[in-house]
Amino acid sequence: KIIPAIMGGGVGARLWPLSRETHPKPFIRLADGKSLLQHTFLNAAALPGVERVLTITNRELFFKTEDEYRGLNVSGIESTYLLEPVGRDTAAAGAIVTLHVQQVFGDDAVIMLLPADHMIREGDAFRAAAAKAIALAGTGRLVTFGIEPEYPETGYGYIEADGENVVRFVEKPDLERAREYLASGRFYWNSGMFCFTAGTMARLMEEHCPDILAKSREALLAARHSSVASGLRIELDATDFSQVPKKSIDYAILEKAGNIAVVGCDIGWSDIGSWKALADLTQPDDKGNRINGDTVLHDTEGCYINSSERLIGVVGVKDLIIVDSADAILVAHKDEVQNVKQLVTQLKERG
Ligand code: GDD
Ligand code: MG
Repeated sequence: KIIPAIMGGGVGARLWPLSRETHPKPFIRLADGKSLLQHTFLNAAALPGVERVLTITNRELFFKTEDEYRGLNVSGIESTYLLEPVGRDTAAAGAIVTLHVQQVFGDDAVIMLLPADHMIREGDAFRAAAAKAIALAGTGRLVTFGIEPEYPETGYGYIEADGENVVRFVEKPDLERAREYLASGRFYWNSGMFCFTAGTMARLMEEHCPDILAKSREALLAARHSSVASGLRIELDATDFSQVPKKSIDYAILEKAGNIAVVGCDIGWSDIGSWKALADLTQPDDKGNRINGDTVLHDTEGCYINSSERLIGVVGVKDLIIVDSADAILVAHKDEVQNVKQLVTQLKERG
């Protein structure tokens, strides 16, 4: 049995101002009119034999999430929503999914844990990679999906591979190490998708982050179940869940566990983790400008301009990122896109 589980509860601070607390990155719409979340759901639903898709997200995003799925008009797929009162990062999300699947479908059920904040353009290649991963997961291994790296991105995890075996997993290295990894030719980028059986992950969590597993178990035991039009809604207990330690699954498990496998894949993957990645999805004009929306340019080079509402005029600048939204405007240098998240931190401090 294959159970896809979509994680959609992150903030996506690097895509401010299009990604906000009430409108995070998975809801960003691409040029084809579909959101990243919708694309993720379609990929999940197209895996072999899938009848039910799990989604773990913040409870504030429940109706929005349900709307996105309903808009797809996919029939024959039920949903289970696991709703978090607060975000405790992806190790907690992974633990809740694992415990729920273990309880309902048993230790051997294969979980495909999918982030909702990236894009896969090659559906067939993804399904081929998923089939390999499912087979490997069935032998009791935790499986990652490796992407051929293109530049020394410091916002990703790096997987050192020896064939299908992972030698080492390093989450978000500094620039110097990222450059080293790229130059060595032995590393993949981590796509952020993972495949494993419920039993395998429960064992790994018991070994490497027992506190996260134990607190998550309590939050799930005390959860409230109700049925909704599209399936089942499970609201985690706020008191218990807010005590789960906050850590990503990459730091909590992937950096520590042994016997991890990697499926190298060429699936047209893009993380869209920053304005640079979003810009790369748009074809450049002859001066290297990438434009979404209504703009007028003069003597402008290498800029990414995204306007959802208003007309933007740009004169005599280079390498800027300009993003307009209903109530905020971003102007940033292209080489500083990773630091856009600082603005979100500052805004939070300002209250
Ligand atoms: N439900 C839930 N709760 N989902 C969450 C939470 C949470 O507390 N935090 C994050 N997510 C979701 C995000 O919405 C996203 O879809 C996914 O989990 C991954 O979380 P990110 O916070 O976006 O992780 P990242 O981008 O910094 O790093 C991960 O992805 C990279 C590739 O995109 C890591 O796995 C890296 O190793 C990887 O390279
Ligand atoms: Mg991400």
